Amino acid sequence: MHRDGDLYNTKCFVCGRQNPSGMRLRFEMDGDAYVTEFVIDDAYQGFPGIMHGGIISTVLDEVMGRYLWVSGYDAVTADMRVRFRKPIVCGSRVRFEGRLDRIAGSRAMTSARAVSEDGTVFAEARACFVIKGGDRMNRPEAEQAVKTRLPNVNLFKHCLAVEAVMRGLARHFGENEEDWSMAGLLHDIDYEETKNDPDRHSLLSGEIVKGMGFTDEIVEAVIAHNERHGLPRATRMAKALYACDPLTGLIVAAALIHPEKRLSAIDTAFVLNRYKEKSFAKGANRKTIEACSDLGLSLEEFVTIGLDSMKGISKELGL
Ligand SMILES: [Fe+2]
Repeated sequence: MHRDGDLYNTKCFVCGRQNPSGMRLRFEMDGDAYVTEFVIDDAYQGFPGIMHGGIISTVLDEVMGRYLWVSGYDAVTADMRVRFRKPIVCGSRVRFEGRLDRIAGSRAMTSARAVSEDGTVFAEARACFVIKGGDRMNRPEAEQAVKTRLPNVNLFKHCLAVEAVMRGLARHFGENEEDWSMAGLLHDIDYEETKNDPDRHSLLSGEIVKGMGFTDEIVEAVIAHNERHGLPRATRMAKALYACDPLTGLIVAAALIHPEKRLSAIDTAFVLNRYKEKSFAKGANRKTIEACSDLGLSLEEFVTIGLDSMKGISKELGL
């Protein structure tokens, strides 16, 4: 199926003809690439006289997303990586090319680049789009997306730990283990990007998780886990995610203070004894952990489920 690209969205910032503040770019197919070529306006600069990297990313995203649209796919960007190779000087003519590399189930893997007339590559991008109406992202793809966005191995392990505890809690309550564990795995996927902007933390995660095709229940639980937004934790899943986030940190700290430094060496009593020491693992907010009472769990029950769940992935956690 091919669609008329001009009907895409007349208000789109990049291509919309009726957006007075937009870039109003024109696109066309050229062989296997979807292309826009234009002279970089002075208004697009970041550093003096240099095209802003965010705008470069915007156009790269557009040539990929629009390529999918004219090909008949309704797709949204789930994950995108941009590599900036050389600065683009305002006033120069640049060609942005998008390509579809492959479709895998409900995912479209795409690539794009910005090149000069003489073939100099200024920037390259790779992206994963979720095709609307398709299935949601599967576990290996979600894990890969978390790994890509969180290069810090401890953050990645934190996500694995929360995933495991959420699965354990879902099992305890007879809830949907796949949904609950996905909320745990993905809840901090924006951490690297929002670490200097805590008010954005979890909002961006919510957008990413939605783009991956997950349910509103998962998206809302992910967003509500950052209490700065003051949002109600309306579901059991949201309550669980909120409380188990700091619990994992407490359990890791308890394992590390033990001479054996292994999860298998500690039990619930050991964790609870450390818990009482105010100076121990201060980052693990006690009030948040005690929100397990909203789930109808005692602290002891909660720690036991958390510890057992994390023991199940001790190898992945390196503990
Ligand atoms: Fe977290």
